[in-house]
Order: sequence, then structure tokens, then C-alpha cells
Amino acid sequence: MKQRNHVYNNVLDLVGNTPLVKLNRITSKFNGDFYAKVEAFNPGQSSKDRIALYIIEEAERKGILSPGDTIIETTSGNTGFSIAMVSIIKGYDCVLAVSSKSSPDKIDMLKTMGAKVYVCPAHVSADDPRSYYEVAKRLHSEMKGSVYINQYFNQLNIDAHYHSTGPEIWNQTEGKITHLVACSGTGGTISGTAKYLKEQNPNIKVIGVDAFGSVIKKYHETREFDEKEIYPYRIEGLGKNLIPAATDFDVIDDFVKVTDEESAHTAREIARTEGIFAGYTSGAAMQAIKQLGEDGTFGKDDKVVIIFPDHGARYMSKVYSDKWMNDQGFFDSINEAAAESIQYVK
Ligand SMILES: Cc1ncc(COP(=O)(O)O)c(C=O)c1O
Repeated sequence: MKQRNHVYNNVLDLVGNTPLVKLNRITSKFNGDFYAKVEAFNPGQSSKDRIALYIIEEAERKGILSPGDTIIETTSGNTGFSIAMVSIIKGYDCVLAVSSKSSPDKIDMLKTMGAKVYVCPAHVSADDPRSYYEVAKRLHSEMKGSVYINQYFNQLNIDAHYHSTGPEIWNQTEGKITHLVACSGTGGTISGTAKYLKEQNPNIKVIGVDAFGSVIKKYHETREFDEKEIYPYRIEGLGKNLIPAATDFDVIDDFVKVTDEESAHTAREIARTEGIFAGYTSGAAMQAIKQLGEDGTFGKDDKVVIIFPDHGARYMSKVYSDKWMNDQGFFDSINEAAAESIQYVK
């Protein structure tokens, strides 16, 4: 077992330097070696700790933020949790506009972390005054001394990953990485990580994961915003109904789309096969690997890194609830009996 002999000053010292874990079973029928960058090992249990800490410390360095100020953000939950955590340690108030699609567990967690939460309807257009983007903008204009992180349109979101996730993966693979596969929401993770990695080796292939119902893949292929691509889907944190400025489309080679249903089953399969309890988008990223593997994308010498953005505990009322899976009709096509593994002893 690894020893952690160090005493940390506070939880923020634990942000980043997450482990890269070899996948041994779920990818066994594909060529190549596969490694998960397990972002749940951040203290806030997601990759968003990196951007929260980086963006807030940049604002402090520039003199835009001082203790007692308010930090505002739009968030599907994870970024909010990370900002709330950083705010506690550094002495800021935290106000979050979240989508009603976010799981109730996530919203409760934000409240527990001292944030003031505005829950906004998920299925309205981005420019609707009720959308979480517009609500955050309005609050920012109304609150004196507030800073709006605006992760979808903030270049620092990319920079945070350029300075941390990218170098970590390069060092952990000793420069041998051949493919990066990562979900794209704001696009910060994939863009910053890819930018750093491609500067080290331009031959590294970068594949983004998008949802059916999102405009990102089509925009990457055509540079055209096609509203017809937009329809509701269930995965939180993946895909978008707008084009985020925090996505650098030039460093991404391809996008793969995944379904809600297959991603949900694959998230469960990661837990069963690898013992890694990861979130819904980790299932989506792994589902993309399956689709790419079946298409023969990977060669036997390839070293593929997949980002697992957050922890499974955030989805107990969603993909890890048999009732939720049943309610979505997700047990219909795959014969995974809902209650098979639970025996009630009377
Ligand atoms: C669970 C989860 N996975 C993946 C992502 C995508 O990361 P990024 O926004 O850096 O593209 C997010 C972002 O919101 C997320 O919350």
C-alpha cells in the first residue's frame, strides 16, 4: 500500500496529481493499453477542483478578488462544489446557478458546502432569462464585489488543465501516451490537456466525447451551430446546447457521440470490472472507448488515457439507482435484472 506521510495545510493542497490507473478487464478485448485518470481522487472528488482553484487564485493574483467577495458560477454541480470548497478555505461567499437536471444529491451537497443555490429550468434555451447562464449574469450585475467565473467562456478553464492535467498525464505515461479520450462539456479539460500534450508530441490523437442531443460534434465537423441537433438528454456535464469559448476545437481530432443508456450501463460495468466507482460521464468516456475499440481505432502498442471526471457517489439517485434505471427503460434492452444482486432474508 502507498504511504501518505505528508501533512497538508488544508484540503486545497490535495488538488491535482490524481492517479493514472491501468484498466485490466473492461478493455481486454481491444488492442493497446488503457489507463484511467481518476479525477475522483481530488478532494472535491472531481476534475473541477483544478479549475476552481486555478481561476480563483488567478483572480486573487490580479487583485480582482479579495476575502469577503462573492463568487458566482453556473454549474452542473461539480464546479459549484469545487468553488464552494475553495471559497470556504479562502473566505468567499459562493452563489451558484444550477440546472434542474442536476441530481438532488449534488444540489444538497452544494448547500452543505455553504453555497447559496438557484435551481434553474434545464430545458430552456441558453438566452432565456430563466437559463442558468442568464440567472448567473443577472446576479453578477446585481451583486457588488462579485466575480463571475463563467467556466464556459473563460480561457483560464483551459489554462488550468494546460498547467496541471496535461503535464501530469505526460509524466505519468513517460511521454508514451498515443490517445487522449475525454468528455467535453465546457471543453476546458480536453482542450487544455490536449494543447499541452500536442505541444510535447503532435501525433497524439485527441478524441472528444459528446452526447446525442448536443451541438458540439457537428460544430467541430462543420463549424456550423445547428439548432436541430439539440434535444434533451440525461447525462450531466457532457455536451452542450451552445458553443463554449472554453473549447479549443483545433486541438481535438474527432468527436464520438454516446447514448444515455449505453453510458449508464458502461458506468456500472466500470464498477463491476475494475472496482472504480466513477460518475456517469466516466461511463460515457468508457462507452466511447468501446465504440472506438470495436471500430479498430487502437493498435497493439497504443497507450490510451481516458479521463474519469468524477466520483460515482454523486449519482446514487441516477445511474446507480436500479429504480432510476428502470424508470428510464434502461433495463429493457439489456437483460440486467434490477434486483438480482440483492437477496432479502426474511
Ligand atoms: C461530471 C462531468 N464530466 C465531464 C465534464 C466535462 O468537463 P469539461 O467541462 O472540462 O469539458 C463535466 C463538466 O461540467 C462534468 O461535470
